[in-house]
Amino acid sequence: MSNDTSNQMWGGRFSAGVDAIMEAINASIDYDKRMAAQDIEGSRAHAAMLAAAGIVTDSDAEAMREGLLTVLSEIEGGTFEFSAALEDIHMNVEARLKALIGAPAGRLHTGRSRNDQVATDFRLWVRDQMDAAIEGLEALQRAFLGQAEAGADWVMPGFTHLQTAQPVTWGHHMMAYVEMLGRDVSRFRDARARMNECPLGAAALAGTSFPIDRDMTADALGFDRPAANSLDAVSDRDFALEFLSCASICAMHLSRFSEELVIWSSAQFRFVTLSDSFSTGSSIMPQKKNPDAAELIRAKIGRIFGANVALMTVMKGLPLAYSKDMQEDKEQTFDAADNLMLALAAMEGMVRDMSANRESLAAAAGNGFSTATDLADWCVRVLNMPFREAHHVTGSLVAMAEEKGCDLPDLSLAEMQKVNGEITGDVFSVLTVENSVASRTSYGGTAPGEVRKQIARWKEKLV
Ligand code: ARG
Repeated sequence: MSNDTSNQMWGGRFSAGVDAIMEAINASIDYDKRMAAQDIEGSRAHAAMLAAAGIVTDSDAEAMREGLLTVLSEIEGGTFEFSAALEDIHMNVEARLKALIGAPAGRLHTGRSRNDQVATDFRLWVRDQMDAAIEGLEALQRAFLGQAEAGADWVMPGFTHLQTAQPVTWGHHMMAYVEMLGRDVSRFRDARARMNECPLGAAALAGTSFPIDRDMTADALGFDRPAANSLDAVSDRDFALEFLSCASICAMHLSRFSEELVIWSSAQFRFVTLSDSFSTGSSIMPQKKNPDAAELIRAKIGRIFGANVALMTVMKGLPLAYSKDMQEDKEQTFDAADNLMLALAAMEGMVRDMSANRESLAAAAGNGFSTATDLADWCVRVLNMPFREAHHVTGSLVAMAEEKGCDLPDLSLAEMQKVNGEITGDVFSVLTVENSVASRTSYGGTAPGEVRKQIARWKEKLV
């Protein structure tokens, strides 16, 4: 028999209440209340199924379903009083339902357990986040696409080792991110398809003796099918790990572009000007305009990947089926999701609003002997030189230009012929950055025509 201090859900077995410290370590309500809508949606589906299967009466199920809507509106309206003594969102909702509708509330937990309940709620929550991530990513892709379209043929330096390598186009660089983000989208889609199986009805771990209809609840909650093994259904959190892995890879991409923005917006580069609305000033240096949003996005990967590592560590030693350790799956997943969405939105704003400085890009494009490969390729194509020899000849010309303190196109033909007598004036046609990028017409190359083809392909995909 339960007394006043023992828990109202399992008071039959206990005679004394819990220590305050026990309550503090045990309660998850402070954060799992974020799953209130999912919990209520799951319970409503479960109640309808119990009635359809003849396990509870239609009128009891109706009372439960109506009462649950009232609980939801109380939570959404901010009038609901959450109790740490009731540990988590599942018991808070059920206790309130009991207060609202009385006896029928006690029948809601027939044929289920908090173990399949939490697995269901959390899946629904993570699934929503996957959808939100996909939406955020596509908005960001559109922003990159807009930049690419505006400057499809603007020349800029392409880098390896952050050293000028070969000229590329601004459009090409922007489209590189459209590709990366496209893979992020497809990763989230794959993970979503894999996780979309319903744990509800797996009960504590073994299934139930009640004649439940798991297809009905799976269907009502938008799952493709019920999970086929009750032990697995309640005890894996791989779907959250996949979400965090996808989020980590995505955050890594965002972080790389953030790093580029930090470099590009510096006085030394001046490749882009960030809008005032996505920059901050300095409290002491009046000239400063800082790319704080980019820096913060660059840092977000830390907590997102941290959440991934944390959950992997929580899970790795757990015997089947449920262990309370799994309650530690949510907080960091919530935090990672919040920060991923924020990073995606901030980056979308930055990319949409930034302006590329066409002149600075062009001026830098020719620096660092960026057309040296074009010169070597010319020697191969026109003089039929083996590439290794062409590389050597070009290296000597670069050294000569470096000595003179000029760029490759500034060398005279006579000077070039001192290195190799066969070189003709035609070589100058490949030494400009415009000709260099225009010549890179291989599929996926940086030639403006190729870039425009990719822009058109993505525009069609993203409408
Ligand atoms: N608050 C718990 C969690 O988040 C709910 C499941 C509790 N199950 C149990 N058998 N104690 O994991």
